[in-house]
Parts: sequence; C-alpha cells; structure tokens
Amino acid sequence: MAERYPHVHVLGIDIKPQHRSNVPSNYLSEICDVNDGLEKFYGQFDLVHTRFTAGVFSDPQAALIEMERCLKPGGLLIIISASFLISEDRKTMYPLYTQANPQGSWFQRSAIGGFPGVKKLGVDPRLLEREIDKGLWNHELLDPSSCTAALITPPIGPWATSLNPAEAARLKKVGEYWRNNILIVHHHWERVYEASGRSRAEWELTVKNVDEGAEGRMFWEMLINLQNFASLVIMGQ
Ligand SMILES: C[S@@+](CC[C@H](N)C(=O)[O-])C[C@H]1O[C@@H](n2cnc3c(N)ncnc32)[C@H](O)[C@@H]1O
Repeated sequence: MAERYPHVHVLGIDIKPQHRSNVPSNYLSEICDVNDGLEKFYGQFDLVHTRFTAGVFSDPQAALIEMERCLKPGGLLIIISASFLISEDRKTMYPLYTQANPQGSWFQRSAIGGFPGVKKLGVDPRLLEREIDKGLWNHELLDPSSCTAALITPPIGPWATSLNPAEAARLKKVGEYWRNNILIVHHHWERVYEASGRSRAEWELTVKNVDEGAEGRMFWEMLINLQNFASLVIMGQ
C-alpha cells in the first residue's frame, strides 16, 4: 500500500516487530495487541484494512467495531479473510501430503496441522468468517446502503486458464498474486504450528516443502475462498 501510494501515510500494527528492509518512507509500524483495543487510533484514518487475521481477534465483533472507530468520517474499512483449506470447487478439499499420498499438498497439511494450535491459543479459526457474514449490519454508525460482504474464490497459481487470451492473462496474474501472498502469510503460521505441539523440525520441513513446491501444482490446488467485507462507514460525530 505504502509503495503503491507514495503520497499517503501508512501505519501498520502488529503484535510482533516486522523485519523488513527497504521500508518506504511513508510507512510507519507500531507494536500493538489489537485485542487490547485501538483507542489511541480512533478517528484518524481514511482506510482501515486487515487481511488474513482470522484467529487473531479474541472477540471479532468487538474488533470490527474497534477498527470502524479508527476511521475518519466517510472512511473505508476493508477486511479480507481466507479459508486456509484449499478446495477444488469451494467444497471438495484437495488431499494433503502424507507418506502414503506423496502427491498431496504440503500447504493443506500445514493448514490442518495448525488448527489445533489456533484452538489452543484460544481462538476459533472460523469465528471471523462467521462474524464477517454477520457483518456490522446493526451498527449505529454504519451506512447500510454502502456496506457489502462477498465470498470470492480466486485461483492460486498460474494454472487456471481460458480460451480468451485477455481472461487467461488475468487469471494467470491473479493466481500468481494469491500464490505469492499465501506463501508470505504461511510463514506467520509458525506460532500456531508451535502451539499445536508440533516440533520445530516438523515446521521447518513443512515451510521448506511449501516454499519449494510453490512452482508445482501438485502442492496446491486451484482455489482459495476469500471473504471480503467492505463498508463505507459514516461516523456519527
Ligand atoms: C497471517 S498473518 C497476516 C499478515 C498480513 N496481514 C498479511 O496479510 O500478509 C497474521 C498477523 O497477525 C499478527 N498478530 C497476531 N496476533 C496479533 C494481535 N493480538 N495483535 C496484533 N497483531 C497480531 C501476527 O504477528 C501476524 O503478523
């Protein structure tokens, strides 16, 4: 965001320091536990965005309201959450890697392996998805005419194609975009993987296989479900 829009000021918050070199000069980061509330950021932002943070909020409904409170009048809140279970058609789960099924997906194995850890950390991984479905429809500060929620299912990887060359190019681009993003986000899965009681060696093997297998379709499948909640929020004051 900061790179693409050099004229805006971007603030990123995370519970952990983010180690990145070449950070753009219009980007600031702050260590902050979102579950402690966001009061110090109230009313300051034109856009608030959170992505792939299912499992982070101990009370997602309260978190949605806290994020909304950080907006300036007319600001936009965009939330994107993914189902980490990769499917072929939204429903049919792609098989995970096991010794008996070496053609299976390491990514799927990692997602399933991490779920007990998410629960141990006290969070229901499907809770944010359910809260997004519920939305903020009854929230007094919301403009109901502009609030939308959608489930979209883009491809992962460059394999999806079409007879129409423009559409084929678009599918390739979207697929590569999501695969690259998911590879980055997967590295954050470490914390829940450890909490699930799995060994460090097993996590390292999983990351290595997911990263190295990223060019091969057999490690992935075609689709990921993304839930998108966008709301043009008009603040009361
Ligand atoms: C799956 S990653 C998503 C990262 C990024 N939003 C993205 O889309 O690439 C979840 C992030 O939430 C952070 N996180 C976990 N618990 C948090 C908390 N209580 N408060 C703030 N950040 C938290 C983690 O450190 C991690 O960077």
